[in-house]
Amino acid sequence: MKTLFDQTKLTGNKVFEPFTLAGITFPNRIIRSATFEGVSDESGKPTEQLLKKYEALAKGGVGGIITGFIGVGQQGKASDNTPMIDKAENIEAFKELTKRMHEMGTPIIAQLNHCGGQSKEESSHMPVVAPSKISDYKAKEMTKTEILEVIEAFVQGIKNAKEAGFDGVQIHVAHGYLLSEFVSPRMNRRKDEWGGSTENRFRILKMIFEKAREEVLSYPIIVKMNGYETLKNGMTVAESVKIAKLLEQVGCDGIEVSNGTIKAGLATMRGQVPWKMMIAQNQKLNKMPEFMKNFVGIVARKMVPQPQPKNLYNLEAAMSIREAVNIPIIVVGGITNLEEIEDVINNDKCDMVSMSRPFIIESDLVNKFRIGKQTQSKCIQCNFCIVGLEKGPLKCYYGKLPVSKA
Ligand SMILES: Cc1cc2nc3c(=O)[nH]c(=O)nc-3n(C[C@H](O)[C@H](O)[C@H](O)COP(=O)(O)O)c2cc1C
Repeated sequence: MKTLFDQTKLTGNKVFEPFTLAGITFPNRIIRSATFEGVSDESGKPTEQLLKKYEALAKGGVGGIITGFIGVGQQGKASDNTPMIDKAENIEAFKELTKRMHEMGTPIIAQLNHCGGQSKEESSHMPVVAPSKISDYKAKEMTKTEILEVIEAFVQGIKNAKEAGFDGVQIHVAHGYLLSEFVSPRMNRRKDEWGGSTENRFRILKMIFEKAREEVLSYPIIVKMNGYETLKNGMTVAESVKIAKLLEQVGCDGIEVSNGTIKAGLATMRGQVPWKMMIAQNQKLNKMPEFMKNFVGIVARKMVPQPQPKNLYNLEAAMSIREAVNIPIIVVGGITNLEEIEDVINNDKCDMVSMSRPFIIESDLVNKFRIGKQTQSKCIQCNFCIVGLEKGPLKCYYGKLPVSKA
């Protein structure tokens, strides 16, 4: 592997140079992709624990932070500890977060989300809604009034994020949550003006942007979207290119390209199915004899799709989108070493890279890369972090919790 030990002696290496996107200047091109932290209080306010996590990332040299998803409305909640930016009384707490990040010179972008068909009734105390009733999840089809309410909720969320001092917002249009359900031909089967053609599936986003622009003018608004979906009738790269062009037309300032839906298993976060940890964490399964645990493991690995490859799996889609638009493109997914990052940035394949899991195990990874202490992330893509998040705060759970021997 190519090792770059003294970045200052290099010419033409843009990775550690500042980059400006929609007027936000990031000190370098490696940012933290949205990662749900599970440490907000029940009213949706960020806790001191969350602030500490972000301080560690800022201290560790990240070019910028995209928050874990923040809810714009009660109905779109998927857990009790989802941070919420739908109410005025939460804004002060977010202000403290943005203030601390700015004191450290780290831009911070709020990711706004509605979980759609992946919302949880136990947390929202409201029916689960999605664009269409399909077998991928249990949800009722949204009424037109409900769609208009969601548009208002996103616009209010954007206004609140601006007031809270975030440098910009990222609208979550990926991973099978509500807005990605709307743009996906697989998940949106509506026959009215909100479904069918690309323009109709895009209508909800168009209206969010148009209304938001009236309110917040040129405030930075970026989008995270699926460049493709690995399932039948899912988004193709050609379709995501069309969506990206429409986004550019309505004033989107940049796009982070990802992939995946609830049905697509480990398409978003490639790597191992964390079944050994799942068994150990489940009281019933853990009591089973070893041969049964083995059997459960075999079934789990068969049932959870694990698309390949594991590295840089969104790059091709991101490059196709970048070809078609004139706004900055960020690529996420399976980026684990400096060589890959240098290739993406210095060969002008994308404008920025973002990472999630590598920062869970090493918040100071960018500094390590910068000084040449390390060129490879320690993350082994075991995906224990995903299971752990159901039990406690975000952290690397590898070696920290019991796993089944089977
Ligand atoms: C524990 C965990 C939580 C995540 N939470 C979010 C989230 O809130 N919003 C989001 O868009 N993506 C979320 N992701 C997906 C990541 O942002 C990223 O797209 C994905 O993990 C692939 O990048 P990586 O290979 O660098 O981890 C999460 C991923 C993990 C592992």
